Amino acid sequence: MSREEVFIGAIDQGTTSTRFIIYDKSAKPIGSHQAEFTQFYPEAGWVEHDPMEILESVRLCIAKALDKATADGYNVDSGLKAIGLTNQRETTLLWSKSTGCPLYPAIVWMDARTSSICRKLEKELPGGRTHFVETCGLPISTYFSAVKLLWLMENVDAVQAAVKKGDALFGTIDTWLIWNLTGGINGGLHVTDVSNASRTMLMNLKTLDWDKTTLETLGIPAEILPKIISNSEVIGKIGQGWPIPGVPIAGCLGDQHAAMVGQACRKGEAKSTYGTGAFILLNTGDEIVQSNHGLLSTLAFKLGPKAPTNYALEGSIAIAGAAVQWLRDSLGIINSAGEIESLALQVDSTGGVYFVPAFNGLFAPWWRDDARGVCIGITRFTSKAHIARAVLESMCFQVKDVLDSMHKDAGEKGEVKNEKGEFLLRVDGGATVNNLLMQIQADLLGSPVVRPADIETTALGAAYAAGLAVGVWKEDEIFASGEKVETPTIFRPILGEELRKKKVDSWCKAVTRTFDLADLSI
Ligand SMILES: Nc1ncnc2c1ncn2[C@@H]1O[C@H](COP(=O)(O)OP(=O)(O)OP(=O)(O)O)[C@@H](O)[C@H]1O
Ligand SMILES: [Mg+2]
Repeated sequence: MSREEVFIGAIDQGTTSTRFIIYDKSAKPIGSHQAEFTQFYPEAGWVEHDPMEILESVRLCIAKALDKATADGYNVDSGLKAIGLTNQRETTLLWSKSTGCPLYPAIVWMDARTSSICRKLEKELPGGRTHFVETCGLPISTYFSAVKLLWLMENVDAVQAAVKKGDALFGTIDTWLIWNLTGGINGGLHVTDVSNASRTMLMNLKTLDWDKTTLETLGIPAEILPKIISNSEVIGKIGQGWPIPGVPIAGCLGDQHAAMVGQACRKGEAKSTYGTGAFILLNTGDEIVQSNHGLLSTLAFKLGPKAPTNYALEGSIAIAGAAVQWLRDSLGIINSAGEIESLALQVDSTGGVYFVPAFNGLFAPWWRDDARGVCIGITRFTSKAHIARAVLESMCFQVKDVLDSMHKDAGEKGEVKNEKGEFLLRVDGGATVNNLLMQIQADLLGSPVVRPADIETTALGAAYAAGLAVGVWKEDEIFASGEKVETPTIFRPILGEELRKKKVDSWCKAVTRTFDLADLSI
């Protein structure tokens, strides 16, 4: 039996789980492993990860996926040409250059402990919340790495001491993984890619370098920052002590940017990824579009040191699939995430219930860290099936709010439509297996939703970036994949326009109810 001997691997280090997926030359997954890791909630609104546990999850996933592919007869040991890396973005940590030990747990992107730092900056800086928007495309928010770094420098003695001694290294999760994978204390590379860097608030979107003025304004020492590289280039080789020593790491992108590449989103095309949160990105080509409607300007991707830069408009939603996990883990209404679909299908509407999962505030397009979750319209008639359905609707309404902003910002000319004049939303991520969720999404948008056969497009995008750098794939092949995805499923709207409008009005009422609830007493 002859087997294709060229393989590309992808590490997908997400918020709730890590995956390693091995692809063959036709971009078909031939082996994978996924491992969940611990979420720490030390205080209300705080979320932390253990950086060492994340490293171990990566090690385990690589080893197990290799074992599976090898057991299936694939000669991965000699055929693995490179790996790509993609990761949860904004999550921030500092570690010691000399010992390799983290100086504090990683502060996760959705953690809201920095709200008082944000308030203070907004008060002190001209332009308030939008002070840095012109430079980095982002408003001041608890979401981004810079404010998490400020919190660490202000509150953790070990961080202060290490920064003073010149022993501190700052990184997002990509930086932490690459430093460890390429040797750690024995010469590990201290780098980040343009997409991850674009989420720190510290990178200048035009120059793609750390912005000196921003660093000075915030008092962040440049020495602790990694070098910024492109999304697709040979970065370095995996060191001894890992399951695949000597294999080049040839691609690195934040998860949402990788999903864009995996979905082959060209200028004017958008995708929505439904994982822990939901993230909608529209490729705006070489133009940095500043939003007037609560969206972020960010990097889309830069596939090579000399490749053109693609920018994006982004709407970030903090809680999507995480609300399903909350039903499972905190309320026990369902036993597995998958069960939400059959439970919600027991009823044909939410019975007038609207749920807004503003657990740690609301991101786009509202940017309210004083918001907290609400569930309105509850009566004696309300059942857990109604609540389950309202949770699914909440994911779709949030995506709709972002897309409405996007249509306003990018206008008619910025978006590609099909021959029927429809704007197609490409979807991916773990929650998109849920057909009911997809149908609700199409109904609430009033336009079609397209789901590819392989919904793990985040990992696929990282594999594409790595394969591109080592010559396994060409850019044309990757971006032609939009046309050749195996049998995508298209969900078309069937809900009447009048009911849709009424539901949207009720949702808007529910959203306004979430504001100014962060200080409710216990
Ligand atoms: N059938 C389902 N219906 C609705 N939600 C689901 C379903 N199955 C999984 N989910 C949700 O999808 C999420 C998992 O998706 P995915 O595996 O893409 O996330 P992740 O990669 O761990 O997180 P992230 O990429 O956001 O860091 C979980 O939050 C889970 O609750
Ligand atoms: Mg993911």
